[in-house]
Amino acid sequence: MTQRHNEPAIRAEGLTKSFGDKQALTGVDLEAAPGTVLGVLGPNGAGKTTTVRVLSTLLRADSGQAWVAGHDVHREPENVRRHLGLSGQYAAVDEKLTGRENLYLVARLYGMGRHAARRRAAQLLDSFNLQEAADRRSGTYSGGMRRRLDLAGALVARPAVVVLDEPTTGLDPRGRADTWASIQELVAAGTTVLLTTQYLEEADQLADTIAVIEGGRVIARGTAAQLKARVGGERLSLTVPEPHLRTPAAEILGALGPHVPVFDARTGRFTVTTDHGAESLEYALGCLRTASIAVRDVGLAPPTLDDVFLALTGRPQTAGEGAAVQPMEGVR
Ligand SMILES: Nc1ncnc2c1ncn2[C@@H]1O[C@H](COP(=O)(O)OP(=O)(O)O)[C@@H](O)[C@H]1O
Ligand SMILES: [Mg+2]
Repeated sequence: MTQRHNEPAIRAEGLTKSFGDKQALTGVDLEAAPGTVLGVLGPNGAGKTTTVRVLSTLLRADSGQAWVAGHDVHREPENVRRHLGLSGQYAAVDEKLTGRENLYLVARLYGMGRHAARRRAAQLLDSFNLQEAADRRSGTYSGGMRRRLDLAGALVARPAVVVLDEPTTGLDPRGRADTWASIQELVAAGTTVLLTTQYLEEADQLADTIAVIEGGRVIARGTAAQLKARVGGERLSLTVPEPHLRTPAAEILGALGPHVPVFDARTGRFTVTTDHGAESLEYALGCLRTASIAVRDVGLAPPTLDDVFLALTGRPQTAGEGAAVQPMEGVR
């Protein structure tokens, strides 16, 4: 069945799911237009995999509805599966088989003939840059190569919608960059992608729209630019080892812009959001030098998921980890 025009490729409304007395989903609403990438951004335990399992018909929600390519996940699971490719959080490749054999097997499972299956496997090995390793047992592959093989497996049947659950978690920077390139290629081919991630940077790179999920519900949504506007620019951080110099240091950092510096009393470290990156850094260092305030471990970094949660909810994502961070009133 072809998709009606303008209909979202993925839609979820009020999905809830409990495991015993643990509420994994408390009302998830999502929407992705055809040909776009929806990033579902959230920390461990937020409900990402549970959402993915409901959308891919592996799990039934307690309440709420969802459609993939116009098909109801609860009432037409076969139709959903026909339009959907899934790459799970843990790469599902058979280690005893070569890369080529893995893809051939998947193609045969989808009902392709031998010749077509062989050709599809070769095509995918090519586009995921696995030609050289194609005839080696996949058990010998690096994490990045496995993820790419798993991704290729999700695309064998040319699904209109692809769901990728944390495609780069656990990969080194090289593996992550390769995987991003592969995802960008499939997006260029017109596929709709739902991608879960714990990395703001990844959602920023790949997603057209982002849904931030926490405690089993979406707490914010928008484009990467809209989200960044709420979260602010880069984080300037530095340590002031001398306790008596921390109050004047706080004043200097606080005067950089509208953002209030955050101080970690345990480490003597300041962090402040800056909308002017390196320029603010240079200016701050100049002021600190003039005031004879020695600093250590100066850094400038893009916002992290922690920063997103702090900006959106006014608190860090996990109470335990952020407990040492005090607002400025703590500096004395
Ligand atoms: N099969 C299950 N049985 C019990 N609890 C589960 C099960 N699956 C997930 N959970 C719980 O539901 C919450 C959401 O989990 P999950 O969707 O896996 O989060 P994420 O993928 O964002 O890390 C977590 O608290 C998790 O422990
Ligand atoms: Mg998960």
